[in-house]
Amino acid sequence: MANTVLVTGGAGYIGSHACVELLQAGYQVVVVDNLVNSKIESLKRIQEITGKPLAFYQVDIRDHDALADVFAKESITSVIHFAGLKAVGESCEQPLMYYHNNVYGTMVLLAVMAEANVKQLVFSSSATVYGTNSEIQYTEDLPLGAVNPYGRTKAMIEDMLRDLSAADALKSTGSPWKIALLRYFNPIGAHGSGKIGEDPNGIPNNLMPYVAQVAIGKLVQLSVFGDDYPTPDGTGIRDYIHVVDLVKGHVKAIEALNGEKFASGGCKAYNLGAGKGCSVLEIISTFEKITGRKVNYRIAPRRAGDLAEYFADPSLALKELNWKVEKTLEDMVADTWNWQVKNPQGYN
Ligand SMILES: NC(=O)c1ccc[n+]([C@@H]2O[C@H](COP(=O)([O-])OP(=O)(O)OC[C@H]3O[C@@H](n4cnc5c(N)ncnc54)[C@H](O)[C@@H]3O)[C@@H](O)[C@H]2O)c1
Repeated sequence: MANTVLVTGGAGYIGSHACVELLQAGYQVVVVDNLVNSKIESLKRIQEITGKPLAFYQVDIRDHDALADVFAKESITSVIHFAGLKAVGESCEQPLMYYHNNVYGTMVLLAVMAEANVKQLVFSSSATVYGTNSEIQYTEDLPLGAVNPYGRTKAMIEDMLRDLSAADALKSTGSPWKIALLRYFNPIGAHGSGKIGEDPNGIPNNLMPYVAQVAIGKLVQLSVFGDDYPTPDGTGIRDYIHVVDLVKGHVKAIEALNGEKFASGGCKAYNLGAGKGCSVLEIISTFEKITGRKVNYRIAPRRAGDLAEYFADPSLALKELNWKVEKTLEDMVADTWNWQVKNPQGYN
C-alpha cells in the first residue's frame, strides 16, 4: 500500500501544489485545512489535474480531538505541515493570533502525532528565520534572528522541533523523530495546467500576484519600494522559486526521511531556493515581455526592515535531498499569467 501523507494547509497555495505532486508520485493524500485562507475548490481542481482522489477534513489543527480522529481514521505515515498564517504586516498588528495559530497549532499537531506514533515531519519554514545578515547568500548554518512576529513563529517552531529531536537522544526506546525544516525563499508561479495557483484574499501582499493583478487591470498601480539600494538597478533582489519546483523538494524530503540519512532520526534544515537573485525591475520587465502587457508602476520610498539583496545557497538540498530547481523566471511568469488569465477572480 502506498504511504499516506497528511498535508496540513493542503487547500492553500503551496499545499495544493504539494498535493498534486504527492498524488502523481503515488502517495495517498489526506488534507486537513480549516479554510481560513483557502477555498475548497482548490481540492476539486487537484483531483481534476491528477485524476486521483484525496481525503479532506475541515479541521483546525488547534482542535486536538478532531485532529486525533483524523489520525485514527487514516493510516498516516508522515506529515507535511503547511497550515499557518503568513502575512508579516498582519502578524505585527495581531501577534497573539499568529503565535496561537502557528506555534500553539504546531504544538497540538506534534502532540497528536506523538500519540499516534507518527514521527516523520516536513515543516514549512522560511528564509525569514535568518533575519538580518551581513552575508547575502544564505547557508543553513548562519545565525537565526527573525525580525517580525511571523518570522519568530517560524523560528520558535524550528527550535521546538530541534528540541524534540534532541530529546530522542536521551531515550533508549521508541521510534525517533525524523524532521526536515524546509526554508523557502520566494515561491511564485502556478501549476502549468492553470487550474491551481495563488488566490490571495483582498489586495495581495506578495509581488507576483500584485504584478499579475495590475497587468490584468484589477489593480491600478504597483509600488516598487526603493530604487536606491546598492544593487545593479537599485531595486531589491530576492531569490524567486517556482512553486512546482518548491513542492518537488517536499516529495524529495519525504523520500529522504524514509531513507538511510534519517535512519536513526534527526532534525535538519534545508534551503529551498534557486541560488540566485532577481530584482523587482527584472520581474516587471520579464512580465511585460512574456505577457505583452504594460505593468504600471511607481517608485515608492523603501520599506522599513527590507534588505537590499539576499538569496539561497541551495547546495545542501542538492547534496542530501537530490533536489534543485528546474524552472526559469520565464516559466514562473508564464505560469502566473496563465493562472491569472484563466481565473481572473481566483477560485470564485
Ligand atoms: N507563500 C510564501 O511566500 C511562503 C514563504 C515561506 C514560507 N511559507 C509558509 O508555507 C506555508 C504555506 O504557505 P501558503 O503560501 O500556501 O499559504 P496559504 O495561506 O495559501 O496556505 C496555508 C493554509 O493553511 C490553512 N490554515 C491556516 N491556519 C490553519 C489552522 N489553524 N488549521 C488548519 N488550517 C489552517 C489555510 O486555510 C490555508 O489553506 C505557510 O506555513 C507559510 O508560512 C510561505
